[in-house]
Amino acid sequence: MSRTSEETRVQVRPAVEADGTSLAEIDHLTWSPDVTPAPRWAVDKVFFRDADHVRDTLVAHEDDLVVGYLQLERSTLCPASGHVQIINGLAVHPDHQGRRIGRLLLTAAEAEARRRGARRITLRVLGGNTSARALYAACGYRIEGVLEGEFLLAGRYVDDVLMALDLTNET
Ligand SMILES: CC(C)(COP(=O)(O)OP(=O)(O)OC[C@H]1O[C@@H](n2cnc3c(N)ncnc32)[C@H](O)[C@@H]1OP(=O)(O)O)[C@@H](O)C(=O)NCCC(=O)NCCS
Repeated sequence: MSRTSEETRVQVRPAVEADGTSLAEIDHLTWSPDVTPAPRWAVDKVFFRDADHVRDTLVAHEDDLVVGYLQLERSTLCPASGHVQIINGLAVHPDHQGRRIGRLLLTAAEAEARRRGARRITLRVLGGNTSARALYAACGYRIEGVLEGEFLLAGRYVDDVLMALDLTNET
């Protein structure tokens, strides 16, 4: 798998364990209560949980420079949802945002989900994360539900928006 943005020299490839340091830095730089309910990622925290976590990560890179990532995994461990993949992480380095790298990663994720036989990709995004919501909408994801006031972040109750991409309509 290797996909290139039309406007940049950025490509997407499967992650390797050695990417962990760069990806931890990207999380550290991008995570805030505006984009995730989780506490800010410590830059020295080990990024990958295990080998499956490495396997489920796509990395955007420009030559040797890692500029973003996306994590795509099974929605649940239940066999009944084996046709659903979920995006559980997406971030682009702040210096490289606005270069259509997020779009490139979502395109690669869609191809990977199809390769895995999925019929749906789901994700959750904070209600106030306007850039991510615009990106998902631009890539065909539709809102399927809203958990109102699901998180208390920086003193405010924030919605959790459930979005999904139907993979059964196109090839
Ligand atoms: C969300 C994020 C991944 C977008 O990555 P990106 O590479 O900057 O996005 P792209 O350049 O691919 O944008 C593609 C489309 O998304 C939309 N978009 C992206 N950023 C936007 C913004 N700030 N405002 C409005 N629309 C935006 C636009 O529709 C854009 O289409 P265009 O290029 O035709 O204008 C990036 O801002 C990021 O890492 N944010 C912090 C982490 C995060 O929020 N992750 C998602 C958690 S659910």
